[in-house]
Amino acid sequence: MANRFRSFWSNFKTVYDVNNELNFNNKKKVKSHHQQIREHCQNLILTDDQVQEYMSRFLNCIKDGLRLSTHKYATVKCFPTYVQDLPNGKEKGKFLALDLGGTNFRVLIVNLAENKFDMNSKIYAVPQAIMVGTGEQLFDHIASCLADFMAEQHISNETLPLGFTFSFPCIQEGLTKGILKQWTKGFDCSGVAGHDVVQFLKEAINRRGDLNIEVVAILNDATSTLVSCSYQRHDCFISVIVGTGSNACYVEQTKNCETFNGDRNKPLVIINCEWGAFGDNHELEFIRTEYDVEVDQNSINTGRQLHEKMVSGMYLGEIVRLVLVKLTKEKILFDGKAPDILFKSGSFKTKYISEIESDKVGVYSQCKNVLLNKLNFDQVSEQDCVDVRYICECISRRAAHLISAGVATLINKIPYNRVTVGVDGSVYRFHPHFHNLLVEKIKCLVKPGVTFDIMLSEDGSGRGAALVAAVASR
Ligand code: GLC
Repeated sequence: MANRFRSFWSNFKTVYDVNNELNFNNKKKVKSHHQQIREHCQNLILTDDQVQEYMSRFLNCIKDGLRLSTHKYATVKCFPTYVQDLPNGKEKGKFLALDLGGTNFRVLIVNLAENKFDMNSKIYAVPQAIMVGTGEQLFDHIASCLADFMAEQHISNETLPLGFTFSFPCIQEGLTKGILKQWTKGFDCSGVAGHDVVQFLKEAINRRGDLNIEVVAILNDATSTLVSCSYQRHDCFISVIVGTGSNACYVEQTKNCETFNGDRNKPLVIINCEWGAFGDNHELEFIRTEYDVEVDQNSINTGRQLHEKMVSGMYLGEIVRLVLVKLTKEKILFDGKAPDILFKSGSFKTKYISEIESDKVGVYSQCKNVLLNKLNFDQVSEQDCVDVRYICECISRRAAHLISAGVATLINKIPYNRVTVGVDGSVYRFHPHFHNLLVEKIKCLVKPGVTFDIMLSEDGSGRGAALVAAVASR
C-alpha cells in the first residue's frame, strides 16, 4: 500500500521534472503554456476550507433528510431501507438475485450453506432503446433474461426467493415495496417513477407465465454492498459506490430516523443516503466549475444529481474532455489543434483517465495510446502527455476528495471508533490511485481516535441481494 502511495507522488514529481527539462529546451513557450494550463485547472483543486465547508453542508443535508419536517425538501433524502437484520452466517438455501443499475444487468444464483457462499451469474446488456423506452419494455427484458438464466441453470421449475438490487432512488415502504422517486444515470423509462418497482417486476414475470419467483426484497446497490461487506466484517457500517453513479449507505440509530415507519424496537436501520443528489439545491455552487455546469446542461436530468456528476464514472471522462476542448480552443494545448472526435460529447471515456494515470513514472505509453489510437491524434508531444495527465489527475483527485469528505462526514456522525467502509464501483476498482487517495484524505478528515479501513466489496450488489433475501426468508 505504502508503495502505491510513494509511486503516486513520485509520478507527480516526474510530471513536473519532465516539464522542467522541456522548459530548459524551449523556455518561453512551454513554460507559459504549462503555467496557463495549471492556472486554468486551479478551480478543479479543492482547498482544505472548501472540503470543510462541503462536510458541514453535507452533514446538514443528511440531518434534513432524516428529519420529518425537512425531509420533503431535503436533497440528500436518507431513505430508510427496512434492512435492520444483518446476516449472521447461518443463512441457508438457494436464492436468486437481480442487479440492475449500471451499464449491465446481472442475474445470479446463490447457494448458501453455513458460512459458505457459492455463486453463478450471467451478465446481460440493457440496450439503449430499453433504457429510455417504457417501463413494461424494461421489465419484460429483465424477466426474459431471468427466464434465460434459469433455463441455463436448469432451475426453471423451482420456486425460488429473489432479492432485487435496483440501483435507483426508491422510497421504501417495506422490504418488498420500493417506489421509484426518479430515474438517474441515463435511464428514463416511462411510467415507472412514482410506482412500486417490485410490482412492475412481478407483473412482467406473470405476463410470461412460465416462472415461479417470490420477490422477497428490493434494495439499492449501496445497501447490498453494506450487507455483503458486513457479512465478512462486523465493523462495516458504511458503504460507498463510485461507479456509473455514486451513493452511500450507513447504519443509523432508528431513533435518529424520524421518517422510518418500520420496527422501532430494533435499534438500527440502514439508511440509503442518495448522496448523488447533494447540490441539487445549490449546496455545491461554491465548488462547481463551468465544466460541471456544461456536463449537467448536456445530461438528460439537468439540475439533478449534481454531486454525482462531479464524482462518478458516467461523467468524469466528459469533464476531462471539456477541459481538453477548452484548452485546445485557447491554443495552449495540442498546439491548438485536435481531431474532430475530441469535440464530440462522450468521446473521452472515464476509463481513459484510469489508463492514463496507470503509466509508470516518466512513461506516457498509455497516454499516447489513448490520444493516438482512441482519439485519432496524428502525433502528440511529450508535453501534451504531461498536460493531459495533469488534467486527468486534477479531476480524479477532486472526485476522490469529494468522496472522502462524504465518507468522513459519515464516519464522524456514527458512534463507532473502528469502522470498515465497503466500496464498490468501476471508478474505485479501476482507477490506479483512487483507493490511496481516499485513505490519505479520509485520514485527515476523521475525528481523533477513529480508525478505519476501506474494503473492496467483491460482488457486493449480487451477494447483498441474495443475503437480504436469505435473511428475509430466515
Ligand atoms: C445513482 C442512484 C443510486 C445508486 C447510485 C450508484 O446515484 O440514484 O440509487 O446507488 O447511482 O449506483
